[in-house]
Amino acid sequence: MSTDWSPSSWRDRAAGQQPDWPDAAALDRALKTLASYPPLVFAGEARNLMAALARVGEGRAFLLQAGDCAESFDQFSADAIRDKLKVILQMAAVLTYSSGVPVVKVGRIAGQYGKPRSSPVEKIGDVELPSFRGHIVNDIAPTADARVPDPDRLLTAYHQSAATLNLVRAFTKGGFADINRVHAWNQEFVANSAEGQRYEIIAGEIERALRFMEACGIDLETEAQLHQVDFYTSHEALILGYEEALTRQDSITGDWYDTSAHMVWIGERTRELDGAHVEFHSGVKNPIGCKVGPSMTPSDVVDLCETLNPERIPGRLTLISRMGAGAVEEKLRPLLAAVRESGHPVVWACDPMHGNTFSSSSGHKTRDFDDVLAEIRGFFAAHRAEGTWPGGVHIELTGDDVTECLGGSEKILDADLPDRYETMCDPRLNGRQSLDLAFQLSELLRA
Ligand code: PEP
Ligand code: CO
Repeated sequence: MSTDWSPSSWRDRAAGQQPDWPDAAALDRALKTLASYPPLVFAGEARNLMAALARVGEGRAFLLQAGDCAESFDQFSADAIRDKLKVILQMAAVLTYSSGVPVVKVGRIAGQYGKPRSSPVEKIGDVELPSFRGHIVNDIAPTADARVPDPDRLLTAYHQSAATLNLVRAFTKGGFADINRVHAWNQEFVANSAEGQRYEIIAGEIERALRFMEACGIDLETEAQLHQVDFYTSHEALILGYEEALTRQDSITGDWYDTSAHMVWIGERTRELDGAHVEFHSGVKNPIGCKVGPSMTPSDVVDLCETLNPERIPGRLTLISRMGAGAVEEKLRPLLAAVRESGHPVVWACDPMHGNTFSSSSGHKTRDFDDVLAEIRGFFAAHRAEGTWPGGVHIELTGDDVTECLGGSEKILDADLPDRYETMCDPRLNGRQSLDLAFQLSELLRA
């Protein structure tokens, strides 16, 4: 953190990936309105997540961070939120039951609306249009009008985050996430598949374990842990004006927290050490993440740790590697060694999605389930070799029955992609593929 850090000190640095808002006065009004709104999360919750991530850093827990690549203003319903939660709860149940390791659950949800783009313009047919930057900025429709950045979207993002968070809290604290409902998380289209049936077996075993404990005289009713789940929110804090407006001083500690989410992260395209995103994240006290791609060097990664976590607070910094299946072992091992030697307490998580994206022959942006799995295997192998803890995974998924990623036990083929290709941005694993992944992961964790 620079000595003169403030929620707005990022403005003195170069900020990549920011929209060209055409109407400065309208932007200013929207930011002032946001700054007057209540916080979405509380500092105490962010501190609880920090403590949970500290346990991950010590090798005593595993991080499951998952959700959409980009949340949509249009596909916004209770069912979609519930189904996403179901698949994450299922994955967590599989991981916890099979490996005995507690799982820290963090959604890419309730704020994941801004997207970095590799080019400011895109070509659709013969016309060149400003790129779609996520619903917090503009609309995906392929017209010049739709692509104009609109500051009112910042307010819509806030309200939709609030409504999503409200439902997430209700689902996770109000009975839906009760372990006695472990069977009910299995959705119909998943239940009939091989993974779904494998899940039913685990769910049955969990129920038997609960009955066993009850029979031993343990009062399960009073064990809050069995009836509620701690579920946290996160997103890439890309649009810095929005994040600044929601950054508030905690009345208990006097520290600054970005109250737009429990955890926020810096993307691969905006992680320059002297850039605006690193400056902003260095001063908020939330747990933060940073993507780490193949161009990162051992000395870069240690500098990043020094800048983002100079006080070496456990749970503060999660490094999310996204190297690509072919490069992960070779690229990651020197970074693991450098961070280990530096003594920085980090959580290492594997994003097996963003290094493995390609265009299918039908022109769909896709990923192959086998590549996703191969990157996770390489991530585990690198950690085993360096004696460090493979702390978690960062996955793009949906509870819906989409056809966006190839492969999995149901073998989605290139020709199947157009059937239900619904993502606004990157391809997501569907419910079955996600559960399949959880089973494979639990075997790696057990090994
Ligand atoms: C993302 O997480 O959706 C993303 C854009 O990732 P990265 O910054 O790693 O490319
Ligand atoms: Co993505």
